Amino acid sequence: MRATGCSDYLHYRQYVRQHPEEYKRLINDLTINVTEFFRDPDVFEALRSWVIPEIFDYKGRIGSYNLRVWSAGCATGEEPYSLSILFHDAIRERGLSTSWILRITATDLDDEALRIAKEGYYENVRLLPGMELDRYFHREGKGYRVKEEIKRPVRFVLLDLMRRPPLRHLDLVLCRNVLIYFEREKQVKILDIFAQCLRSGGFLVLGKSETIVGSEGSSFKPWRRKERIYVRV
Ligand SMILES: C[S@@+](CC[C@H](N)C(=O)[O-])C[C@H]1O[C@@H](n2cnc3c(N)ncnc32)[C@H](O)[C@@H]1O
Repeated sequence: MRATGCSDYLHYRQYVRQHPEEYKRLINDLTINVTEFFRDPDVFEALRSWVIPEIFDYKGRIGSYNLRVWSAGCATGEEPYSLSILFHDAIRERGLSTSWILRITATDLDDEALRIAKEGYYENVRLLPGMELDRYFHREGKGYRVKEEIKRPVRFVLLDLMRRPPLRHLDLVLCRNVLIYFEREKQVKILDIFAQCLRSGGFLVLGKSETIVGSEGSSFKPWRRKERIYVRV
């Protein structure tokens, strides 16, 4: 209100209606984009050691080479790029790297955060033990630019989580540190969207302070409680 010189809420509402670009600025100010590469490393270690091998086992059983992942509320891109790094390594370890098709859809409501994400240039990067920066990034100025092979599988899309994206048969959904901003009724709706987008046996990962409780949990059962990893039943 102060930035636009409005005297009260009603005045501001009127202003937003008359100036559509102000709505965009409001959204960008209200959304909190705090994130980092491999945030909560123990969760990414669990993905590396347990979840990703389980996904590859499943693909082997059904004879598929498609890996489908959704990072919902991806902010400035560190989360989907961390996933791309993990899958990139997992594919390389298994050989036959040309056969696998990895598609990571990364969505957020904040277009400024997505702009940074698409740029793929970061001043701070922290990896998991055993990972070498130069394998995934080019050093550039004071920072690091994500290499093309890490960037290529990630597609950034502007999307409100309340709307269902056209994603089906996903193997893995990460929605971390996003649900806390929603009231319960909306959390239930979002979890239902995830349940529809995941294949049975697919994984859902929430943030460390988020849990699935009560009736909305019927589509999911805990797989690794400490890391907030659930499986679609
Ligand atoms: C704190 S960041 C979490 C980033 C990342 N998932 C992590 O855990 O490091 C929360 C993100 O959720 C996004 N967000 C908030 N409400 C949203 C909505 N309705 N639809 C899509 N994204 C939303 C914000 O723009 C912000 O980028």
